[in-house]
Amino acid sequence: MRATVFADKHMKIGEIHPNIYGSFIEHLGRAVYEGIYEPGHPAADKDGFRRDVIELIKELGVTIVRYPGGNFVSGYDWRDGIGKERKTRLDLAWASIESNEFGTDEFMKWCKQAGVAPMLAVNMGTGTPKDALELLEYCNHPSGTYYSDLRRKNGSEQPYGVKYWCIGNEMDGDWQICGLDADSYGRKAMQTARMLRWADAKRADEEGALQLVICGSCSCDMPSYPEWDRKVLEHTYEEANLLSMHRYYGYDASSKNPLEDFLGSADNMSGFIDAVKSTIHYVRTLKRSRHNVYISFDEWNIWSQSAPRTAPNWIKAPHLLEDVYTLRDALVFGGLMNALLNHSDVVKCACLAQLVNVIAPIMTEKGGKVLRQSTFYPFRYAAKYGRGETVRTIVDCEKFENRHGTANTLNVSVTHDAQSRTVCVFACNYAQSAQDVALELRSFGDLSCAEFVQMSGNDLSAANTFDAPDKVTPQACDRVAVRDGKANIRLAPLSWNFLRFTY
Ligand code: AHR
Repeated sequence: MRATVFADKHMKIGEIHPNIYGSFIEHLGRAVYEGIYEPGHPAADKDGFRRDVIELIKELGVTIVRYPGGNFVSGYDWRDGIGKERKTRLDLAWASIESNEFGTDEFMKWCKQAGVAPMLAVNMGTGTPKDALELLEYCNHPSGTYYSDLRRKNGSEQPYGVKYWCIGNEMDGDWQICGLDADSYGRKAMQTARMLRWADAKRADEEGALQLVICGSCSCDMPSYPEWDRKVLEHTYEEANLLSMHRYYGYDASSKNPLEDFLGSADNMSGFIDAVKSTIHYVRTLKRSRHNVYISFDEWNIWSQSAPRTAPNWIKAPHLLEDVYTLRDALVFGGLMNALLNHSDVVKCACLAQLVNVIAPIMTEKGGKVLRQSTFYPFRYAAKYGRGETVRTIVDCEKFENRHGTANTLNVSVTHDAQSRTVCVFACNYAQSAQDVALELRSFGDLSCAEFVQMSGNDLSAANTFDAPDKVTPQACDRVAVRDGKANIRLAPLSWNFLRFTY
């Protein structure tokens, strides 16, 4: 099988915002307790933060972490998780017990240790605009008010300066605690956003202003999509900086063509982004506005939906959503990353959902080891090297049919970082046979190949386990020669590939 990929440095899509390498920690299952926080674990520091987990998060290259939910946030009172007396509560979102030992102050401290920026979600379910304002006051106001002084009393003299604020979570979902229709949410989000802006004393477009994320559709399968997005934007446009998107994909063994349907996920994600981008553009035009709203794809991942969601009820930190990721998952995951990169003009933040134990690239044993799942690797390479800008690619290859439509067997993104003089090619071969690909990169100058790694294998269901942690890892391939800006590469059947060139 033969294919050609042409990329030109002048055909820029957009600058890659570092925040597209974000992730997400929710009070759900063992993400917080036994995940990032486990006092008494041999690797825990004095605050109970697992250093072994922090080390892997640093290796993964995560830039920003969304917290504390997710569905959890729509029933959360942030006051329960601060100060000396913590309140144990029922968490209705996940039918669990929440001890609130870990709350806002612990999260802020943890972010510092992990070298990530915080992104806080506020409760738009049971919560009010006033609750959101008071959390902002607690976090960001220097001193001299009730909540800022309370933060100081609780040990943090300096304000946290949290910049990214999600105004609720998946408010279009009927599973959401006190979910709303689009107009009711739009009005509530607008009132909340205004109050946060007044407290921040900066307009939406001002340098250093809060970045407010409005809830967009939580999937393109929702019956209210894309009208939900239009309506909430019409209410909030001038105060919004980003509109959220969420989407998970799973392998469905019962479908007629399970593999093809799963491999088509990246194209579905691309189409979803294109439609939301157009909706934003429509509202901007309608409002005769000069203000830009971007996309925060703040929940995306592979999620099989087969691991337990709620049972057993009413215990603390149950084993929920502990998906085991396979080579097959890593291939689709790589395509989803390409979809984000290929929309770098509009996707300015993205959070892999989630980070530890819950549909996560990192797993932990209670009191024991830590593990990199197969999906850890495509993320790690993109976060480390997918910097600068994405350029358009012209791909000539064979196609395959799937439930989302017709897709290329070669799924690619090409990034260019002028600062480090690096060009990267992220390529998924979705064909069941090898592909010989001619990479045409002559506009970048005199390139030489610094690295070529590949994830492939005969067993698509292979996964890493605590006993065999390196079953699915990238393997180094021979570097390829570049002549007159052209490189010929061979991609193994059903493989994820990363090539790095320098000039
Ligand atoms: O990430 C798991 C859950 O998926 C989140 O809590 C929710 O926002 C989404 O439905």
